[in-house]
Amino acid sequence: MKTSLFDFESPFAWLRDAGHQAWAEELQHSCHLVIDVNGHGNLSDWIQCWEDLPDIDGHIDARNDGRVTLDGQISSRTESQLRSDLMKFRPWRKGPFDLFGIHIDTEWRSDWKWNRLRDHVELRDRSVLDVGCGNGYFGWQMLAAGATRVIGLDPFLLYVMQHEVIRNFAGAAQNYVLPLGDDCLSERRHLFDVTVSMGVLYHRTSPIEHLQSLYNSLQRHGQLVLETLVIDTKGEQLLMPEGRYAKMRNVWFIPSVDMLTKWLRRTGFQDVKVVDVTPTTTSEQRRTEWMTFESLSDFIDPEDSSKTVEGYPAPVRAMLTARRK
Ligand SMILES: C[S@@+](CC[C@H](N)C(=O)[O-])C[C@H]1O[C@@H](n2cnc3c(N)ncnc32)[C@H](O)[C@@H]1O
Repeated sequence: MKTSLFDFESPFAWLRDAGHQAWAEELQHSCHLVIDVNGHGNLSDWIQCWEDLPDIDGHIDARNDGRVTLDGQISSRTESQLRSDLMKFRPWRKGPFDLFGIHIDTEWRSDWKWNRLRDHVELRDRSVLDVGCGNGYFGWQMLAAGATRVIGLDPFLLYVMQHEVIRNFAGAAQNYVLPLGDDCLSERRHLFDVTVSMGVLYHRTSPIEHLQSLYNSLQRHGQLVLETLVIDTKGEQLLMPEGRYAKMRNVWFIPSVDMLTKWLRRTGFQDVKVVDVTPTTTSEQRRTEWMTFESLSDFIDPEDSSKTVEGYPAPVRAMLTARRK
């Protein structure tokens, strides 16, 4: 049975019940502006593709091997229709997914990131905010690990649509992706048990304001999960690329782990723990048939894999946890 597109009533009802009536209305209005007023060049095409999706009921789950799966019986004809429909929502960057036997081999092995995180976050019966959640891949993992609900934010409408495609088959599940950025978190809400920000901090011109907005979103003693690019050097160091970093135009600040820890403490977080530091490899981030643009191997100096094509240290990512006071 088809779900409704962009149906965010359940998270808004939860916000209202939690005493955040005005915020729920504000978010609802912002979503309306993004979807119905401003739109996006391709949005009407994506909506048409969504409406044309085959009518299939599935059961969504997250497997131990890292795939988010939709199970259900489909004919080979439906499978080939669905595969070509899913291709219209490329590039698929975060996953992997297995939808009725169709393996979406995404650019990123996000399951590797999930494996670095899963033992360090308390999710059972928790309400989670995932800022910069992409297509909601981690939300499915977190629901399967016991979270009550996951509310994701991502301003990039293609990823929101990818999530809507999956929701369309999964039915009512408490994993949502609102088409909004972290700017909707500037006020103190003190609501979520867990707030996750992975792969967002270095895109922000003001990383401290980003950390403050994450702090504001959390309940007292709520847990933060922060994952970002770092420079792998001792001491409080900071890299601000002159121009592009690994061909990305929007990378502003890459701190060392010590500097990042200090930023978190200065923002008010306590109990800061570094749970992982890992260089990104071309096995974790690579071009596939579901993401045919350039990928990590094109961003690294072909003569020296320890450097980006611009001569900066090649990508290393750190995962930290911390708590709101
Ligand atoms: C590198 S991806 C990370 C996706 C996912 N969290 C992960 O770790 O794989 C960064 C995501 O942040 C989103 N993003 C960019 N600016 C943002 C903002 N101001 N607020 C929230 N999300 C943002 C992008 O659209 C993109 O999906």
